Amino acid sequence: MSTADRIVYLNGQYLPRPQATLDLEDRAALFADGVYDVTAYIHGRPLAMDRHLARFRRSLAGIELPPTLADGLDLVSDELVRRNFGPTGDATVYWQVSRGAGPREHFPSAEMAPTVMALAYPAKPWDLQARGSVPTIKAILAEDQRWSRCDLKTLMLLPNILALAKARRAGCSEAVLHRDGMVTECCRTSLLIVRGSELWTHPADRWILGGITREILLEQAPSVGLTPVQRPFSLQELASADEVLITGTGSRVQAVTHVDDRPIGNGQAGPATGKLYTALMNYARRTTRDDRQ
Ligand SMILES: Cc1ncc(COP(=O)(O)O)c(C=O)c1O
Repeated sequence: MSTADRIVYLNGQYLPRPQATLDLEDRAALFADGVYDVTAYIHGRPLAMDRHLARFRRSLAGIELPPTLADGLDLVSDELVRRNFGPTGDATVYWQVSRGAGPREHFPSAEMAPTVMALAYPAKPWDLQARGSVPTIKAILAEDQRWSRCDLKTLMLLPNILALAKARRAGCSEAVLHRDGMVTECCRTSLLIVRGSELWTHPADRWILGGITREILLEQAPSVGLTPVQRPFSLQELASADEVLITGTGSRVQAVTHVDDRPIGNGQAGPATGKLYTALMNYARRTTRDDRQ
């Protein structure tokens, strides 16, 4: 299916992609004045939908938009996946709400109606039985230049994009961000490290996005013999970790084998990361099981 054939959602309507247009003065385009979220559909069923809706409501409230704008986006997403990829599609669904459109003026006007849109994208099929090897990536280090509300999933992604561009120039697919010598997360994924039998990750405060895949892995960690620990950690602790992994709705679980060309552990995906990957697949299988089948 080409992009032109795709059905998208815009302000209450399902439209063919070419017919859905944003106002040139939408505040998403002028000011990145909006928030977004991304959910995964596995064989036609949403993964952790309630958590994504709750986070989206927090993001909306965080930029002073009504959290109720998220209401119904679960049903919209079901419909988009069904219409675009059929009843058993593997997809990601992107939600975006901006403050609306109006003449370019920093002060938001009370009359503006928020723009609500949702787009469904095809995703690599989830192999929920997978017990095989975990995908691996290499990363660079980059200074975290984002603002101090990284917990809100806002449209303002320029620091993330610039760090990712730097990663790509170095032949890597992620950048591990750090602030004052402490590791926060990556540009589009959460970062976790394994040290002995502990799974460390930055606390879910204002310096990172509270990743939902991260949250699921922290919950599942004890089932694979790991103790979850939310604590800030340094670049040195990253470099001397036994294993490093990234997580995200689209990326799922991936092992980081090298950071700035230096190997983590023996430079291969480690056993704990493999177990966490399997734990995510098991969680997805349990929670997206379709009772109608
Ligand atoms: C900065 C950042 N951290 C972490 C994540 C992972 O979050 P989730 O697991 O909810 O997809 C994302 C996903 O977009 C992100 O942009």
